[in-house]
Amino acid sequence: MATPTILVTGANGQLGRELQVLAAAYPQYSFVFADRSQLSIEDPQQIATFFNTHKPAWCINCAAYTAVDKAETEKDAAFRINGEGPGYLAAACRNSGARLIHVSTDYVFDGNSATPLKENDPTAPINAYGASKLAGEQRAMENHPGGTVIIRTAWVYSEFGNNFVKTMIRLMKERPAINVVDDQIGSPTYAADLAAAILHIVNSPNFVPGIYHYSNEGRISWYQFASAIRNHTGSTCTVNPIPSSQFPTPAKRPHYSLLDKTLIRKTYNIIIPDWEPSLLTCLGRL
Ligand SMILES: NC(=O)c1ccc[n+]([C@@H]2O[C@H](COP(=O)([O-])OP(=O)(O)OC[C@H]3O[C@@H](n4cnc5c(N)ncnc54)[C@H](OP(=O)(O)O)[C@@H]3O)[C@@H](O)[C@H]2O)c1
Repeated sequence: MATPTILVTGANGQLGRELQVLAAAYPQYSFVFADRSQLSIEDPQQIATFFNTHKPAWCINCAAYTAVDKAETEKDAAFRINGEGPGYLAAACRNSGARLIHVSTDYVFDGNSATPLKENDPTAPINAYGASKLAGEQRAMENHPGGTVIIRTAWVYSEFGNNFVKTMIRLMKERPAINVVDDQIGSPTYAADLAAAILHIVNSPNFVPGIYHYSNEGRISWYQFASAIRNHTGSTCTVNPIPSSQFPTPAKRPHYSLLDKTLIRKTYNIIIPDWEPSLLTCLGRL
């Protein structure tokens, strides 16, 4: 039997790069990693050609417009990539009998919850990025409901690309003190853990389509996350907690991002690491 092919789009992003690292542990699949220059998810014709050539059994969509603040003024680009792109990929998967794993975000919620967010809680994005990602979820599910898994995640970091952990390490070297918001609550997601969960789902004997939530375990604020980065890197920088009102950004941020991971744990038997050991692993690799 031919080795099933897994197509990874947006392969040069944080999650795509972590999947590249993990691919060696899955010799039963052949991987095709496509960055934006090789496959743009905005282009249905290019997607069709790519699917005809590579005949993937799975597509893992790591491509996204992730510049949250810029999305406020570049709504068209955000909606083309985050809104339409997943729909095109889902249609290509449906037409070729492939399955899609698409990645979304807690930003589809308004952040006013007081309890961990469940998959069927009402969505109400408060910025353009969140609205574009919600549109992408809807298009993907409309086009391939029986073959799509959507994983909503939050606060993603990795040794690759730009993210909060790397920014904090840089700022802590440059400045004697930094201010970090203390009134936004969530749990970070180490992209390597998310990549492992995705490949666990691909490799699972049971495929159950639908929306799932995934982040690392635990509950912290950005200030607490920054403080842990400070302590674990031995930095002497002072980290001060501030309210979000003292750190205005073009796009509003949800105050509550904590995801309830019960469904993905139970459905796919996934063991989710706590955020702090995963942070230590990432810091060790940096
Ligand atoms: N980062 C977070 O904190 C966070 C939180 C929640 C959810 N998510 C979601 O998690 C997923 C992975 O995020 P990430 O942090 O790995 O993002 P990332 O590092 O920004 O990577 C996204 C990749 O997509 C590529 N891309 C952009 N437009 C494309 C297009 N039209 N066609 C093909 N590729 C395109 C980008 O290429 P260029 O760099 O060349 O544009 C980049 O390599 C995304 O769906 C994101 O929305 C992320």
